[in-house]
Order: sequence, then structure tokens, then C-alpha cells
Amino acid sequence: MCGIVGYVGDRPCRDLLIAGLEKLEYRGYDSAGVSVITDGEIDSVRAVGNLANLREAIDEHGGDGGDGGVAVAAPPATIGVAHTRWATHGRVTEENAHPHGDCADKIHIVLTGIVENHAELRKELEAEGHTFSSETDAEIVSHLIERHYKDDLAAAVRGAFAELRGHYAFVAMHLDQRDTLVAARKECPLIVGLGSDENFVASAIPAFLAETRRVLMVENGEIVTITPDGAEITDADGNPISREEDEVTWDEDAAEKGGYPTFMKKEIHEQADAVAETITDRLSGLDSVDLSGVDLDDEFLRTADRLMIVACGTSYHAGLVGRYAIEQWARVPVGIDIASEYRYRDPVSRPNDLVIGITQSGETADTLAAMRLAGEGGSKVLAITNIMGSQATRDADAVLFTRAGLEIGVAATKTFTSQVAAMYLLALRLAELRGTMPPERIAELIAAIKGLPSKIDETLAKVDKRAAAIARTHKDQRFFLYLGRHIGLPICLEGALKLKEISYIPADAYAAGEMKHGPIALLDEDTPVVCVATDSPVLDKVLSNVEEVRARGADVIAVATEGSDRVAEVADQTLFVPRTDWMLQPILAILPLQLLAYYIARENGLNVDQPRNLAKTVTVE
Ligand code: G6P
Repeated sequence: MCGIVGYVGDRPCRDLLIAGLEKLEYRGYDSAGVSVITDGEIDSVRAVGNLANLREAIDEHGGDGGDGGVAVAAPPATIGVAHTRWATHGRVTEENAHPHGDCADKIHIVLTGIVENHAELRKELEAEGHTFSSETDAEIVSHLIERHYKDDLAAAVRGAFAELRGHYAFVAMHLDQRDTLVAARKECPLIVGLGSDENFVASAIPAFLAETRRVLMVENGEIVTITPDGAEITDADGNPISREEDEVTWDEDAAEKGGYPTFMKKEIHEQADAVAETITDRLSGLDSVDLSGVDLDDEFLRTADRLMIVACGTSYHAGLVGRYAIEQWARVPVGIDIASEYRYRDPVSRPNDLVIGITQSGETADTLAAMRLAGEGGSKVLAITNIMGSQATRDADAVLFTRAGLEIGVAATKTFTSQVAAMYLLALRLAELRGTMPPERIAELIAAIKGLPSKIDETLAKVDKRAAAIARTHKDQRFFLYLGRHIGLPICLEGALKLKEISYIPADAYAAGEMKHGPIALLDEDTPVVCVATDSPVLDKVLSNVEEVRARGADVIAVATEGSDRVAEVADQTLFVPRTDWMLQPILAILPLQLLAYYIARENGLNVDQPRNLAKTVTVE
């Protein structure tokens, strides 16, 4: 979830660019950089850490003369690009921070997202004599543009764009074209801000909102050439596309939330991106999972006796989904425990066990303590976390990063789906190494996982209004029961947790088969029952539980797979999610439940981003 900003106009641009980056800080980052065209060269400064570090580096570089250039330069630089980096490929170092240049240092680019085919392109370019100065996938882009450059930056960007696979947006500038920025969009957002005699381009509107409210939305697959006089959009072949400009009406606060009323809503809608970032480069092959960035020995994964998952809250629910996938696909026994239980129960941890600590923040005290305890017992410890440099990354033997970007809402949403996606990757890799699934089945699952980001967007678009309508009719209910089986159960636990934490309505989640052993006594006409009834080998069982519920007069709200009329026939309200491999349904099934909890809380006028008594990270034991 990097941030990019570009400026071309008549004003000194260094401070404008850094002010733009400040507005993107909420996305999270671990390094930053800025490049401007000064007198005869591109002047670039990069720094690890926050923007204060970048400013310091600029000062050291000699650029605080108020001239607008990064270094002391005359005339002041009026064109530049800047970037906040959230590391994906390559460690957090100054060399890996953007902007990245070409061999002649005449082209600089900033990129957000992931270039999937970076390894093959790097090989080709190296064979042609290009030399690289970073470990990033992004640097490929500046060298590719160099390969295509004759005397027209837009044409060179089109040439490069045609060779790139992945999901990304980038902005490029060339020393010889000091009034032109060229930007391209493949999936990741890109917006032009139109000023007078100046224009901006960025990955999000807040980056330039203090300067202009007139915007041009760049669509997927388009390339835009920006000069001080205007912006011209073309398709990937250079055919002009006309686009009406829009006026942004948000205030600053809404801008930070990307136009959504709350961070939680924004983060719910960022889930396709978060999952795509988490999986894309790791599934760039058609039939295998690449976990090479994770420091785990293949031999150990092939022979480990047992896996043990420890986590808290939402992360624990992601672990539960992971257990089903690992056991079914890789046939390894998996234990799972709430970290605060595991650490106090004198657990048995053995050298040939792999203990997996799932923690989005990487700082949750109980999870860290459980991981340490397991490590002391001799087990290998893998952290699955969203935060580079967090304590979990320092304590663990190996780290598998989710790449959800910063999550500001206290109720976890996009970090959950990213964690589930990461668990699928691990489960598939284990299956591959242990030979427990035919290669065709692995390839089928890889294809299905790759399809999840677009299905997430499809689901959100389809269920949003319906979830809001159900919330309106159920907002005053005193208690909700959630029922599910198999992979539906963790989704019920997570759905009920969302409802409890943001709407303060009591809710319980139960394995549907356990209902008859007690909770059935709770049911009457005033108890809404939320059932996860997506297609699976246990759907018949779930449906017979739904009948039991209906027999007690309770109102059934079901989450079902599209086309599953059997569910719609027995439920009072059905929220349909698109069809995918049934083991992957949890990633889609949670979405309507996040929205349901969200809208119930909003109907009750509650602050969903900061619920009472809750903190984003619990670091105190
Ligand atoms: C807190 C948050 C939860 C989160 C849990 C675990 O309680 O409110 O949303 O699931 O911590 O956090 P972690 O960072 O370890 O995933």
C-alpha cells in the first residue's frame, strides 16, 4: 500500500510533494523518497523511516535553501515525484526506497502495487546490460522505460506497460522532458489533480486536496500524460480517451477516509487490494506457491510433525480457517489455541513442530509471549503479521507478511481476509511439498485464489445495500445467534465478534451441531439467527439446523453461495456471495457479516472506528 505523488507546474515542488506524502501517511509506510528535476540532473533523496527522516536527509543533502529543489538548485525544481514505501519486495533499506532510476539516471519512477513478472524481466534486462541498484520489483519499470525510450516518454511508458504483469500504478519522469509526467494504471488507483498552470497525480486524492478539488479519474489500463497545461488520457495503445473532470466535495476528514464515512467502511472496501497484495507475487506461477521470501526451510515444512497456531481475537479466527485448509490439503495435524490460554497452560512444544503466531500488529503481548514460549520449547516459530519491523518479526524464526496496508479502524476487517489468504498460501505450499494433493488440484486452487480479489469486489457491490436493509430492520434486536459448521464456523465467530465489538449487541457464535446441546433454549421469535450456509459438503447438515431454528420461530439471515436456492427457500433473508472453491468461501462469506455489523452499529449512531473499551493493539499483559 505505497503512496505516490507527482507534480508538474510552475511552483517549487519539493514541499508540495512532501505535503502530499504527509496526507498519505495513514496508509502506513517504512521509507520514503522524492526526486525532482533540477538544473541538468535528477536530484533524489530517500530515507528509511518516517517523513521527518526524509526531511532530515534532504537537509543533509543541502536542500533546505527554500529554493524548492531537493538540493540547492537554480532555477527551483518544478517537476518531481515522491513516494512512501510499504516494503513488499526487498528489505526496508534506502536502496530499496523509491524513486528508482534507470542506468543513465535520466528516468525516475515511483510505483505502488506489485510487478508480478519482475524476476523474468530483470533477467532479460540484466542480459541486455542494465544494472540494478535495488532488490525491488519497481526498479524494473525504470529500466523497461529506458529500454523503450527514443524521445517520447509516453511512448516509452506504453512500451513498458505492455510488458508488465501485476497490479500497480506508477508515475515516470525523464530528465529530457522537464514538463511531462507520464503515469499508468493497472488495477491500483491513480488520480490526476487539475490546477491552473500546474497538475498533480497521486495514488489517492488527499495527496493534493489542499491544492485542488478538480480531478480526473484514471481508469484501469489507461496511461496519462501530465504537463502544466493539462492531462491527456490514452488507452494502452495510445488512442486518446476523453474524460470529464470531477469535483471533489469531501472535506479533509472525509478525504483521509477516501470519501467513505468511516475508516472501517473504507477498509472493508480495501479488501480486494489487500488480498491481491498478499497473494499476487506469491502465486505468479501457474502451478506453485512461491514463499521464498519466508525464511522456512522446505525440508522442515516437508517433515514437521505438527503445526500449532496461536493468536488473539480476529487473528485467531483466521487461524481457525487456516487449520481447515492445512489439515485438508496438506494432511498435517494442526492444533490451535488462543494465545492467552496457550501461554499459561504449560504446553508441549517440540523441536519438530512449527508454531504459527498470527498477529496483524505484531505487537499483541499474549501472542508474542505464546510464540516465545513455543520457541523455548524448541519449536520453529513463524509469524504471520502485517507490520514490518514489529516485535513478532524480530522474535520469530520466519515471517510471512500480509500486505493489507495500515488498518486504522479498531475492528479488524482487511487484515482478517489477508490473514486468511496468507493461511491458504501456507496450506498450499505445505501440500505441494508433502505431495498430498495432485498438481492439477493445486493449480485449480491457485487459479481460484487468484480470482478472489475480483470476487471480493463483486461481493461487496452485491451485498452492500441488502446488508444495510437487513440492519435497518434488525437494529433494535437484543441478541443475535450465529450458527455455522466447518469453515462456516470461524466466519460465524468473526461475524459475531464484529457485531459485539462495534454495536455492543450481545451475540454468540456456535457450531451448528452443538445447538441442540443448549443454545436452542435461547431461540424464539425475537432471536435473529445468522447462518453461514455457503456450498460445502456439510450444507445439508447446516440446512437441517436452519429448519430447527425456523421451527422455533426465529428469523434466519443466511449467507449462501449464489444460485443456492435451497438456502433462500428456508431463510427469511439471504445474502448471496459469488461461487468459488468451497474451501475458499470464508473470504467471501465474512464480507456480508462485516457489513451487517457495520450497518447495525451505524444505525445505532455508534463510532465504529473507535468502539468503547477497545484498543487496536493490546500490548499490556
Ligand atoms: C485487539 C483488536 C482486535 C485484534 C486483536 C489481535 O483486541 O481489537 O481487532 O483482532 O487485538 O490483534 P493482532 O494485532 O495480534 O492481530
